[in-house]
Amino acid sequence: MNIYEKLLKREARISVIGLGYVGLPIALEFAGKVSVVGFDINHERVEMMKRREDPSRELDPSAFDGRDIEFTSNPEDLKKAHFHVVGVPTPIDHANMPDLKPVISASEMVGRALKKGDYVVYESTVYPGAAEEECVPILEKESGLTFGKDFKVGFSPERINPGDKVNTLTNTMKIVSGSDREALENIAKTYELIIQAGVHRAPTIKVAEAGKIIENTQRDVNIALMNELSVIFNRMGINTYDVLEAAGTKWNFLKFFPGLVGGHCIGVDPYYLTYKAKMLNYHPQIIDSGRYVNDAMGRYVARELVKMLIAEDINVLRSRVLVMGITFKENVTDIRNSKVVDVIRELEDYGVNVEATDQWACPKEVKQEYGISLIDKPKGDYDAVVLAVAHNEYTQMTEDDFLKMCGGKGVFVDVKGLYRNKMKKMTYWSL
Ligand SMILES: NC(=O)c1ccc[n+]([C@@H]2O[C@H](COP(=O)([O-])OP(=O)(O)OC[C@H]3O[C@@H](n4cnc5c(N)ncnc54)[C@H](O)[C@@H]3O)[C@@H](O)[C@H]2O)c1
Repeated sequence: MNIYEKLLKREARISVIGLGYVGLPIALEFAGKVSVVGFDINHERVEMMKRREDPSRELDPSAFDGRDIEFTSNPEDLKKAHFHVVGVPTPIDHANMPDLKPVISASEMVGRALKKGDYVVYESTVYPGAAEEECVPILEKESGLTFGKDFKVGFSPERINPGDKVNTLTNTMKIVSGSDREALENIAKTYELIIQAGVHRAPTIKVAEAGKIIENTQRDVNIALMNELSVIFNRMGINTYDVLEAAGTKWNFLKFFPGLVGGHCIGVDPYYLTYKAKMLNYHPQIIDSGRYVNDAMGRYVARELVKMLIAEDINVLRSRVLVMGITFKENVTDIRNSKVVDVIRELEDYGVNVEATDQWACPKEVKQEYGISLIDKPKGDYDAVVLAVAHNEYTQMTEDDFLKMCGGKGVFVDVKGLYRNKMKKMTYWSL
């Protein structure tokens, strides 16, 4: 009996290592079909999941209903499973270099739990080659087993889009790959149990790794082009969104928009690719330029606002600015690598008094991560409002709502261009 058949008969279990935005949904989906061990090193998060609470606040308690899953923070429990799915974070360090520490430590733990016939499938986004070059040697060392003969490996990148209720885990096709033909087939069939949209069988693990990393690199570079265009059009006194609307009438014009590129995927993954490219003695020009442009946008937005305050004869040093939204994107609670923080820091460098509000973000986390104290409600009489994140609540406001916050007069910086052509009384600017 192969691993897939054993899983179906509940003679083998799946373990999911790292139960965050990616790991928990996949663990719960699998647990609707087979028996699952859900493992995370964070004991507090595991206790929440035992109470049917998603620490990432994406899933309702009903997502836990009728699932065959045991949540644990004890690595010994991984020995109960035979098909291990690794979904731990892959961040970058302060020098924008890949930080593989979580993947390495997860591999060590899985390695110690590995038995003959087991499978390990990585879902964490990594550079091409990482699974086989970095992780497999650790699995072999910790288990004393031989890769290929005793255990098999695969890579199946995650495409989940937090906050998106349309493109979901199960209705988005998933790339799968395996270390040999048999591994590919077993991994593909296992994922087919839960992915209604089906799976794409990539020829090698490296191809699957590269496929994922270029999805986000492509987005990053395209957004960088829009950001650069926005800087140019700003100097020309024309609105970028007006230009994009006009150009977008052509059938093959790609729909990308300017903005702050934060979070742990689009703004991070290209660095994994450029790191590997540089190891191979190639210095990427376009990808690095895209990163440079996008990383500078937060400070650019702040500087444009300062110029407007000066033009309005407002004393910058005594000015008060309200920033609405601090999460890395709309309708999520995730604040990691938020570029709104760059806007706030640059404004503060100019001496502006900044207050920030966001009903989606956890104030404690924001304080811990960035030292910023969120305010619950706008206090009023601001000189300017920066609408930084397009949370649903912020898209349904009127000019009068913002005017009230500013005591009847003020500057409105609309990072996402949501209120274009709707502002008649405030001094309006958008990317
Ligand atoms: N969140 C997304 O939108 C998204 C989408 C596609 C791909 N990805 C990729 O998926 C991976 C996971 O991202 P995420 O957003 O789910 O991260 P996350 O931070 O939400 O969750 C990671 C979880 O892993 C746990 N963890 C950390 N180190 C661990 C270890 N050594 N062993 C066990 N558990 C450990 C953490 O406690 C946390 O609960 C990353 O590679 C990311 O790039 C994320």
